[in-house]
Amino acid sequence: MCGIVGYTGSHEASPILLAGLRRLEYRGYDSAGVATLDGPRLVLRKKAGRVRMLEESLKEEPAAGVCGISHTRWATHGPATDRNAHPHVGGDGAVAVVHNGVIENHAALRRDLEASGVAFLSQTDTEVIAHLLARELGDGDDLFDAVQRVLPRLEGTYGLAAVSPRCPGQVVGARLGSPLVVGLGEGEHLLASDPAAIAPHTARVAFLQDGEVVRLTPRDFEIRHRERGSITPRVDRLDWSPDLAELGDHAHYMLKEIREQPDTVRDACRGRLRRGEGTAAFGGLNMTARQLRRVRRVVFAACGTSWHAALVGEYLIERLANLPVEVEYAGEFRYRNAPLDDRTLVFVLSQSGETADTLGALREAKRRGHPTLAVCNVVGSTIAREADGGIYLHAGPEVGVASTKAFSAQVAVLTLLALHLGRLRQLSFPDGLAVVEALDRVPELLNQVLATEPRIVEAAERLAKARSVLYLGRDLHYPIALEGALKLKEISYIHAEGYPTAEMKHGPLALIDPETPSVFVAPRGALHAKTLSNVEEVRARLGPVIAVGTEGDADLARLADVFLPIPDAPEVVQPLLAVVPLQLLAYHVARIKGCDIDKPRNLAKSVTVE
Ligand code: AGP
Repeated sequence: MCGIVGYTGSHEASPILLAGLRRLEYRGYDSAGVATLDGPRLVLRKKAGRVRMLEESLKEEPAAGVCGISHTRWATHGPATDRNAHPHVGGDGAVAVVHNGVIENHAALRRDLEASGVAFLSQTDTEVIAHLLARELGDGDDLFDAVQRVLPRLEGTYGLAAVSPRCPGQVVGARLGSPLVVGLGEGEHLLASDPAAIAPHTARVAFLQDGEVVRLTPRDFEIRHRERGSITPRVDRLDWSPDLAELGDHAHYMLKEIREQPDTVRDACRGRLRRGEGTAAFGGLNMTARQLRRVRRVVFAACGTSWHAALVGEYLIERLANLPVEVEYAGEFRYRNAPLDDRTLVFVLSQSGETADTLGALREAKRRGHPTLAVCNVVGSTIAREADGGIYLHAGPEVGVASTKAFSAQVAVLTLLALHLGRLRQLSFPDGLAVVEALDRVPELLNQVLATEPRIVEAAERLAKARSVLYLGRDLHYPIALEGALKLKEISYIHAEGYPTAEMKHGPLALIDPETPSVFVAPRGALHAKTLSNVEEVRARLGPVIAVGTEGDADLARLADVFLPIPDAPEVVQPLLAVVPLQLLAYHVARIKGCDIDKPRNLAKSVTVE
């Protein structure tokens, strides 16, 4: 899950490449590097650590030139060292390559190259590409052709970019499995793993498809497909301003994105609520009401936080539409021979739209002939383009690695979907209208939740010392407990587990002691009394309790060491309110522990390898 940026034009490339890498650092941040063409010379600079380390070294030793490539890394092969950082060079500076993905047959290719006398400098899979390219380039000067001759020898996935001093002003890129997008500027062209790095320069972009190779020059670009030959690219326009990805006066992107959630939910519902019919409507599903009525089963496939959102979707669709729903881990679903009949609708959920396992699940479902829809945030992403239809979240760029606002947008959209499917079946107009009105009030209620942040900081001080934490929730709140636990794990590195509250007595209760806090997600609802007894069971074993509950719930407040209130609201929208205190709890625990909140260790924002 690395970040790639390439530039060719009339401006100095380094500053543009560095600024692009900073915007892509959420994709991987263990080392970084650039390679520029300074006349006949290839200039290489690379450093272990953050992009700012590379920036520091470029102040001492600048990399001149108006054409270059760059990379920020998430290690797949070899630790984070200067040597393993990209770009990798082949043939004594004949060519430099940056790569995002995994070359699965790199060991065999390496053996062949070493047997023919090539000396490797790094432990990476990527370096084989540089040496194969140098060999293919030979004494010639057509990097575009050389790349096309090398690619068939590579097994695995790649988004790659290359430059060679023999081809001044040219950047060549290729895509198979990992995203790449071309930026169309005036007298300049850019290449990047994600439009965020291109947006400050141009809103006109062309997304590369799998099997495509591109040659960029300052004046022009050309795309060829490995089977279909020359391609006339589709040029899209980015519908968001680059400022949206700016941190502004927030301490971290995660905090900024948590605080944006009232707008996020409003934007996710904008133009989709149909008060007059007591339902919701979508423009991009590409399925008629008749086709949707014929659906007898829904399968969601997703990873991580998106999987938790899908689980909330399961509870809501079963409750409002009485339709059976299964929620699958995409990485399992794509290889498991799950029996799906022809009345099954498959939905994949992905914020980035690039997660390899979720993309694999989409392709597997489509290969088996199922209508496959997607819920995505990134417009023009691979999953969004390959799905038969879908729903965009309109949450804007999400930069923090720990997903927050995208989760809320996913839950809001799945609530709308449950309402839509329900009103196509047995859900009455009054019940549908009640959901419309409840959703309409959520942004204002979220502002009330955000105002309780000081109390959440108090709870965080208690949690920051813990070695392990249990998160517990019933019904719609079980997925919220899972999400709360994931957030804490991701950014504070404290072990945490989410469990259905009723499951506690069947094992996890053994973990309860004065050092192991429990976080109960327990707004008022049909099962509230049962949850109160479960809180009592934890109290009886001297377990500290932090409880998210409905404002004014004296019983729960009495039982909890810290009570985190949320406004009273209908059960179907409570997950949207209850998750925010858990996001802020994780945020403040990580802040208290001094963790790198926006770039937690070992993680990356979109996981484009299996
Ligand atoms: C969530 O905070 C994590 N970043 C991770 O679990 C993420 O949800 C998962 O990788 C799926 O990403 P996607 O929604 O972009 O497919």
